[in-house]
Parts: sequence; structure tokens; C-alpha cells
Amino acid sequence: MSITPAPDKSISQKVFIKSFGCQMNVYDSERMTELLGAQGYSAVESAEAADLVILNTCHIREKAVDKVYSEVGKLREMKQERQQNGGDMTIAVAGCVAQAEGHEIVRRAKGVDLVFGPQTYHRLPALLQQRALTQKPVVETEFPSDDKFEGLGGASHRRPHGHGVAAFVTIQEGCDKFCSFCVVPYTRGAEFSRPVSQVVDETQKLVTAGVREVTLLGQNVNAYRGSGLSGAQATLAILIDALSKIDGLHRIRYMTSHPRDMGDDLIAAHATNAKLMPYLHLPVQAGSDRVLKAMNRGHTTQHYVDLIQRIRNVRPDIAISGDFIVGFPGESDADFEDTLNIVRGVGYAAAYSFKYSERPGTPAADRKDQVPEEVKNQRLYRLQALLTAQMQMFNTSCVGKVFPVLIEKPGRQAGQMIGRSPYLQSVHLDAPGSLVGQLVNVKILSSGSNSLAGELEIA
Ligand code: 5AD
Ligand code: SF4
Repeated sequence: MSITPAPDKSISQKVFIKSFGCQMNVYDSERMTELLGAQGYSAVESAEAADLVILNTCHIREKAVDKVYSEVGKLREMKQERQQNGGDMTIAVAGCVAQAEGHEIVRRAKGVDLVFGPQTYHRLPALLQQRALTQKPVVETEFPSDDKFEGLGGASHRRPHGHGVAAFVTIQEGCDKFCSFCVVPYTRGAEFSRPVSQVVDETQKLVTAGVREVTLLGQNVNAYRGSGLSGAQATLAILIDALSKIDGLHRIRYMTSHPRDMGDDLIAAHATNAKLMPYLHLPVQAGSDRVLKAMNRGHTTQHYVDLIQRIRNVRPDIAISGDFIVGFPGESDADFEDTLNIVRGVGYAAAYSFKYSERPGTPAADRKDQVPEEVKNQRLYRLQALLTAQMQMFNTSCVGKVFPVLIEKPGRQAGQMIGRSPYLQSVHLDAPGSLVGQLVNVKILSSGSNSLAGELEIA
């Protein structure tokens, strides 16, 4: 079914998309930019310069909704000023806040023209047309049966991030896990996987455009079950195997994984597939079984620790990163100590940690035993101190080693380049600009808090 109107060549409008939240939103924003590009829109870097402003919102934590209304308030002032001078601006709210709030946004925030959820981006040209025809705000938050990715595929080419060398590719969206703290199953909907052929085609196009590293994205990326090239269902390991056959693609990463979906074939791929990077983002959220149960994570701490051990057995140099939540309702001091203990036991190369944030409509938000803010602050402080120390220890342990580094872009100083290590660290080194997109061996000489420095290893 075609849902994209023919390009209106008379349009020479400018669009600015502001992205909040996760990499999936970054990916979605890139795809919307391409789709609108095919409709005659050009992308600009600020709301001031734009005719159409899209806020691609995130609902995962904190006062996400308030933030959106305050952003919209600023845009509305700009719009009113323009209207007084005979101009105009179209304001659109997309993403997970749009999905969660729907009509409430146009009721509360005058001046918003379009509200649309993450599953309807491919309909954007039609929605804009509807808005122009009806002169009324348009709200689209259904989960349509047609394929968003198929609809977005009409764009002529992808614009990779990371200066053209690295790109994100969403392969799976949505979540069926229903962790009791999380809005994702409600905002992104049920788990859905793109077919292998679609992902291979998109990646091939990116590689032709110069991309050398792809990160496969999904809320539960290792639950990927796309239809395979032979028609049978394919796992993430099968997809990775198919992608690794693309000439010119040097590196493959994936995120975010769930401890319940780490298949044996995926673990084995870390031992056998040279293009698959030795880095795994595997959140555990908490270190106490009582809290994991209340979070509805569906696994124990022992399961997680055993899993990490099995992965390290086949790939000893793998770096593990994770997500943690402190102050989940009912979390006691002893529960929190268990979180510190699991962190000490695993040893993380990187991690994200958050204070639990009540999300309306999720089961945990209704609990009466919410943890006081002050306690959450103290726990977060202690956890982050431990994780930062581990990250620094990991960076220090890299000094003296030789890593394959993918050169991405020039550094700040003349003659300096910046590349990426297998472990996602930025690596600064002196090298010629002609090396962009190439894998080179670099001896690591020093480490900072967020990056490494080294020199080209001459073979
Ligand atoms: N409060 C705090 N952190 C949350 N996350 C998801 N929902 C919440 C919430 N309500 C965190 C989890 C998840 C990451 C993407 O965001 O750690 O892995
Ligand atoms: Fe949210 Fe849990 Fe699904 Fe991750 S697995 S998206 S934390 S519900």
C-alpha cells in the first residue's frame, strides 16, 4: 500500500528535527529527514531557520512531558512572532511522549500542528498534507498494520552518523517484556523484527556510501526474529552472519540486549565472527533477586552472572556495559548493597545508571513504597562512583595494548585523527586524513576518563 504522496516539487521548505533520548530516536530522526528530503525539504540546524520543527521526544524517565511542553512553549512564541509578520511555522511533536499523550498535547499546547507516534513516521508527508488541507491539528497515534520501515525505505539514501563511517540500523522495535518500571511496551508497542533481506539491503547501501561500522538497534535486539533469506525465521546471530558477508563492512555491534534472550548461537558468534565487536550492552538493572522479581525482569542475578561467565569463556576480552536503576519502589539498603556487589563481581567497562522515575501507567508507579528522593540521590552517588572507577580502570588497562582502530574523523589539532576502539572508546592519534574509514593498528599510550591516545603501529 502506498501511503506517501508524490513529491511536491514546489516545496522548498526547511525542517529542523530535535531528537531526545535513545539512539533509536536518532535513527528515526535521520529517516524522517531523508523522507522529507525526498519531498523537497532541506534539513537545517536550528528552529529559527526552519519552517517545520519536529520534536522527537523521549518518555523513558524524569519530567519528559514537562520538558516537551516547555520546548513547545518556546516554539509557539517564535511561531506567533512570525505570524504577526506574515510568516508561519509548523510544529510537530513525535516520539514516545506523542504516543503516550496523544490528543492531550493539542489540548494543552496551542500552536502544535501535528502529533504522531513512533510507528507512523512513514506517514509524515500524508499527515502534513492533511494538516494543510484541514487547517486543524492532526493527531496520529494508532499502531498501523503497514510496515513503517518499508514506508521509510522510499528515501534515496541514508545519511550515516559518525562522519560517514559509522551508522545505526534499527532491526527490531518494541518490547513484550513489560518490566514494571518501563513505558516502552506502551509507547513502542509489541516486538517487531525487520526481515533479514531489508536489513541487508539497507546496510549494503550504507557500505556503498562509505560506512564501515553498523550498530544494530532494538529495544530487545537479541530477541530479533526476522524472516530469513530462506523463509525460515532468523535469529540475531543469523542476521549478523548475513551482514558480515558484506564486503567493506568492517564492524558490527548491537544494542540493547536482554539477559533472557542471549541465545547460544549469539554467544558462539562472539567467538567465531571477526566482524562482531567484543562489546556487549547487557543491562541487569538491579542486583537483588527480590527487586528483579518486582521489576518483572524474568531472571535472577545468578542467571545474569552465569551468562556473563559463559560469554567470557568464549570471548575473554569482551567488555560488558549495563544499565542500573536505583531506588525502585521497596528497594532496601540491603537490596542496594546487592547491586553494588553485582557491579563489583562483573566489572563493567561502561554503564548508565538512573534514579527510578515513576512513569504514569506502569505498574511500579502505583506502588505505595516509593523510595524518598534523598535516598535515591545517595544511592546513585555511590553507584556512580563505583562505576566510574571501574570505567577508569578499564581504560587504564588498555594502555600498552595494540588495538584495531577505525578512523572516523580529523581531530582538533592539525595532523590528528580520531578513531574508535573495539570497545567504543575514542582514540586520538597522529595519522593522515586519507585513513578515514580504514582499520589501523594503534598502540595505546595513555588513557583519559573518556578516551585513549595512541600511535600508529608500523607493521
Ligand atoms: N526509571 C528509571 N530508569 C528507567 N529506565 C527505563 N525505565 C526507567 C524508569 N522508569 C532505564 C533502564 C533501561 C534504560 C534504557 O532506561 O535502565 O535499561
Ligand atoms: Fe523496558 Fe524492560 Fe522492555 Fe527494556 S526489556 S524496553 S526495560 S520493558
